[in-house]
Amino acid sequence: MSRPLKISASVLAADFTRLGEEVAAVDRAGSDWIHVDIMDGRFVPDISFGPSVVKAIRRSTRKPLNLHLMIVEPERSLQRYRDAGADHLLVQAEPGSTVHLHRVLSQVRELGCRPGVVIDPATPIMWIEHVLHLVDIVLVMTVNPGFGGQAFLPEMLPKIAALRTLARERGLDFHIEVDGGQDADTIRRSTEAGADVIVAGTAIFGALDYAGKIAEMRACAHTSTSPTKG
Ligand code: DX5
Ligand code: ZN
Repeated sequence: MSRPLKISASVLAADFTRLGEEVAAVDRAGSDWIHVDIMDGRFVPDISFGPSVVKAIRRSTRKPLNLHLMIVEPERSLQRYRDAGADHLLVQAEPGSTVHLHRVLSQVRELGCRPGVVIDPATPIMWIEHVLHLVDIVLVMTVNPGFGGQAFLPEMLPKIAALRTLARERGLDFHIEVDGGQDADTIRRSTEAGADVIVAGTAIFGALDYAGKIAEMRACAHTSTSPTKG
């Protein structure tokens, strides 16, 4: 059975003056998840959204909210993001974000959200080897975090492939999500390497026809043979 590709539209690239309409539009256009980048001005230079904006996004869609926490000490605000309506809480693996990664991922599960771990381009897989059994999603950054519209880093492809191999060897069934610089060609290469969830901001919100763009992205994906997971 093939694992269907999931698209997670990143609202960072939306027109914020019409945030609710934009979220509803990508929902209607067929985005499977809605990717929400939380930036605190410390882990990354910019500040984006907090829980009150997540609450507003929650009112605009029933699709899973895929929260990417680019923040220092996520353990201090997990509950607020859960209460705001997050479905997935993705925590950066680097100690510059959280010191006790294993504990934080367990807390996400206890709060009733799906845990995910995120690795920056410079972060090796070895760093998350001992928490893979705790997560539903591994997010491989294919750009350095902090900004939309950057160019895809092809040197991340072997990392995606190694992660897919590791999952197979250990019998683990997490999603491999990729984030940054994703469009037709990089989707093809990322899915060939083993990714099954694509985050895309600029490519979707920069298109005139969101539904057409999302359909085009799906058509570019390489079909894998892994089992399906919802
Ligand atoms: C970058 C964010 C991404 C960003 C991707 O730090 O994590 O989610 O929105 O944007 P594009 O698709 O423009 O590379
Ligand atoms: Zn992101």
